[in-house]
Amino acid sequence: MRVLSGIQPSGALHIGNYFGAIRQYLDLQRGNDAFYFVADYHALTSVRDASKLRGYVFDVIVDLLALGLDPEVATLFVQSDVPETTELAWLLTSVTPMGWLEKCVSYKDKVQQGLPAEHGLFAYPVLQAADILLYDADVVPVGQDQKQHLEITRDIAERFNHVHGETFKLPKPLILDAVAVVPGVDGKKMSKSYGNTIDIFDDPGAILKKCKKIVTDSKPVEAPKDPDDDHLFPLWRLFAPEVEVAEVAGRYRAGGIGYGEVKIRLAEHISNRFAEARGRRADLVAHPGRVLEVRRAAADRARKAARVVLDRARAACGVG
Ligand code: TRP
Repeated sequence: MRVLSGIQPSGALHIGNYFGAIRQYLDLQRGNDAFYFVADYHALTSVRDASKLRGYVFDVIVDLLALGLDPEVATLFVQSDVPETTELAWLLTSVTPMGWLEKCVSYKDKVQQGLPAEHGLFAYPVLQAADILLYDADVVPVGQDQKQHLEITRDIAERFNHVHGETFKLPKPLILDAVAVVPGVDGKKMSKSYGNTIDIFDDPGAILKKCKKIVTDSKPVEAPKDPDDDHLFPLWRLFAPEVEVAEVAGRYRAGGIGYGEVKIRLAEHISNRFAEARGRRADLVAHPGRVLEVRRAAADRARKAARVVLDRARAACGVG
C-alpha cells in the first residue's frame, strides 16, 4: 500500500504532535510503501521569511530521522523538490468549482478573523489534492482537522476522472485517532499557537522547567486527588510505566502525594523517552551533508513516481 502524508514545517515538534501523528507515521513505514513530505509550498501561506522556512524544513527532516524514520524504508522528501506538484495543481484547479473551496474552514476562518485571505490560502486544498493524487496514494493518514481536505481531494479526483477520463486513484483517508488528548502546560489542548507545548527536543532542563509550569489546583500533599480531573495525570499516563501509573493513581486517591513530585518524575520520563532521539538529532545537525543526501535521494524517488502520474494527467487533458 502506498501511504502518503504531508507535514507543515512550522518549528519545533511537541509531544502533542508525537502522539497525534508522528508515532503513527513511524509505525506505518513498516510493511507499506510510505511517502512523507515536508509541505513547504503550503507553508508559504504563513511563513514569509526565506531563511526561517529553510530552517523549518531542515528541522522537520532531522526531527523525523532522529525519531526513527528510516530513509531506506520510507521516502522522506520535500514538496518543492518535486515541482511537478505545482503543474498538477494547475490541471486540478481547472476543474475545481469555486464553491468547494469557498466552504473550506481554513479559508473561511481567516476571512472571518479579518486576516488577509490570499489566493494561496484559498487554493490550499487543490495543492493538497495534487500532493496526494500525484503519487497514486492509497491511504492518507491525517488528523481529524484534515478530513475536509481529504474529501475535497476525492471530489477533485472524481471530477477530473469524469471530465477527462479515468486518471486518478481515489485515496482513502486514515483519520488518526489521537492516541490520547495531550494537554498543554495550561491544560488546554497542546498546540504551538497556544504557547503551551513541551517540545520533543527540549533539553532535560527545559523539559523540567515546563513540567513545573503544568497548571494544577492548590490541594496540599495530604489531600486526596482525582486523577481523572487533572491536567498533570494524563501526561503522566502517557510517559510513566504502568506500575508507576498505578502507584501514583493510588496515592492521588488516598492523599499523600504532591503535584511537585509527579512533575519532577514526569520530566525525567519525558527526557528519557527522547534521550536517544536527542542524541541522533545532535549527530545529524553536526553532519548536514548526510541530511542533504537523504533529501536528494528521496527527491529522486518521489520525482520518478510523480512523473508517471503527471504524464498520465497531461495526456488525459490534452496539454503537452
Ligand atoms: N494540510 C496538512 C496539514 O496542515 C499538510 C499537508 C499538505 C498534507 N499536503 C498534504 C497532509 C497531503 C496529507 C496529505 O497538516
